[in-house]
Amino acid sequence: MSKKLIVAIDGPAGSGKSTSAKLVAQQLGYLYVDSGAMYRAVTFLAIRKNVLNNNVEIIKLAEETEIDLKFADGKTYVFTNGENITDYIRSAAVNENVSIVSKIYGVRKPLVEKQKAMSNINCGIVMEGRDISTVVFPNADVKIFLTASIEKRAERRVKEYNEKGIGVDVNEIKQNISQRDKLDTTRELSPLLKAKDAIEIDTSKVTIEEQVEKILKIVKETADKRNNKKKL
Ligand code: DC
Repeated sequence: MSKKLIVAIDGPAGSGKSTSAKLVAQQLGYLYVDSGAMYRAVTFLAIRKNVLNNNVEIIKLAEETEIDLKFADGKTYVFTNGENITDYIRSAAVNENVSIVSKIYGVRKPLVEKQKAMSNINCGIVMEGRDISTVVFPNADVKIFLTASIEKRAERRVKEYNEKGIGVDVNEIKQNISQRDKLDTTRELSPLLKAKDAIEIDTSKVTIEEQVEKILKIVKETADKRNNKKKL
């Protein structure tokens, strides 16, 4: 499999995007990018600066902050202007406000540009998010859209929190996910939607291993097709 591909994985919160995207990238030796971490970083900075009600200031943060994502030991580390903010971007306050921040055009524009620029590397890339197949890489070689029932998605989030030693209420998590789904799918700009040419995988009843296997198979088949076309 010699051709380096762009693999776009979209889906709602808790659909299994991060876990499968990381494993797929690892197995292929590709760069893994969690685009949601960038929207979370801007949201965290806006909360800390107390400017959540000021779009001009939020946009300034998105435009002027240097955001670096570093993936190591199965985890995405987030740095803003050199400061490690990894531990703060998944707080309840960020969860509650990230959909509001990410619907601002002036926030999306610079972040999408940064994401597009990440493909200018000499290796393949797996990027996950909400608009990767539709806006960031509309010409991605592989487009995957993951879905799962709300019950399953909430259950996964609760497990993640519990593993970190944080106790959470499943109904509260369900409510937060539903609210984010609503905001993410109904927003005017780059709403979460399945690209026409994306392959949909319902992850409610499959294991992570099966999910990863499915995606890897699609990537390998696409790479083989591309390589054969070159030879013809
Ligand atoms: O993937 P996540 O749950 O960490 O993403 C957090 C939020 O960021 C999500 O509610 C919507 C937003 N987001 C987005 O608008 N576009 C992306 N490509 C990725 C995330």
